[in-house]
Amino acid sequence: MASTPNSERLILRQDYFSDPAAWSALVDLLQDTFSIDIGLQDQFGGPDPTSMPFGYFDETGRCVANFSAFSMPLVINGRLVRAAGYQSGAVRPEWRGQGLYRDLMQRAFARTKAEGFELDILLTDKPVLYERYGFRTFPQHVFVGAPPETAGSCPGARHLSLQDPGDLRLMKTLLQNRTPVSRRFAVVGQMEMFHLNACFDPDIRLTLVADTAVVAWKFDGGILRLLDAAGATIPPLAAISSALDLPAERIEVCFSPDRLDWDGTPEPYGGYTSLMIRGQAANNIDGPIMLSPMAEF
Ligand SMILES: CC(C)(COP(=O)(O)OP(=O)(O)OC[C@H]1O[C@@H](n2cnc3c(N)ncnc32)[C@H](O)[C@@H]1OP(=O)(O)O)[C@@H](O)C(=O)NCCC(=O)NCCS
Repeated sequence: MASTPNSERLILRQDYFSDPAAWSALVDLLQDTFSIDIGLQDQFGGPDPTSMPFGYFDETGRCVANFSAFSMPLVINGRLVRAAGYQSGAVRPEWRGQGLYRDLMQRAFARTKAEGFELDILLTDKPVLYERYGFRTFPQHVFVGAPPETAGSCPGARHLSLQDPGDLRLMKTLLQNRTPVSRRFAVVGQMEMFHLNACFDPDIRLTLVADTAVVAWKFDGGILRLLDAAGATIPPLAAISSALDLPAERIEVCFSPDRLDWDGTPEPYGGYTSLMIRGQAANNIDGPIMLSPMAEF
């Protein structure tokens, strides 16, 4: 049973994203807590329509605590898994230590259980918060190696901009019709986070490769970091590398590279958050994995 926090002054709201004032109050909470602007999503069509937010609001309409679930289908070892992701967990400092977060977590977990989600997944810098609910940490790995042999630059490559309406439409189409970037472990969709993550990090480049996939990448100090590839077909790494035509000495693929026709050596990923998962389907995770940084939430 969900416990009720000790405050009569707060209003519990669920599924409130259709109310612009309440959405904006959540944007403020996350800006104040994490210095991130999730309101940027408004320019790409708004938040994930599968979101199931649970929030406490004060009498002035300020959101003082929130925890959201959303549908995040995954492929794990070739099987489609109906997974729920959890995000936007925050409590304003003056309201902490009173059980608000516990209450919201329990409500969200009860909701996704009732809706039949078979796996739960989140990213956190406070794993202990979730261990007591049966989540366990899966270490993430990047896949490292030398660039494949390429046959010079590929004329099909074109830089895409989130600010260009035509490019944005193209990216949405590619993301909607994407083949999961890996059979071993990957999201099936996640358009909203792809756009938001591209906005958050100005070093991320988006390039249309072979007219079939938008490739998200970074290049720094001779290292090409491949973050994601979204399209109906995933080009092999040799085609991507040829299209990008960079003087890369080393490649780091930030997702399981099983569709890239290339093998990299797994090396521990030094991110500051832990990937935590619970549910039977997690037992099918076999070997090193990484959630594409473009699907981070
Ligand atoms: C972490 C945070 C959400 C906790 O909110 P809260 O309302 O104070 O938490 P609660 O009072 O409901 O406590 C819930 C449980 O978490 C534990 N907890 C609280 N803060 C914690 C912390 N910083 N680290 C580890 N555990 C913590 C409590 O001991 C309690 O445990 P219990 O259920 O076994 O008694 C809040 O401090 C916050 O917003 N921090 C900044 C943003 C953040 O870190 N968000 C989580 C991102 S994954």
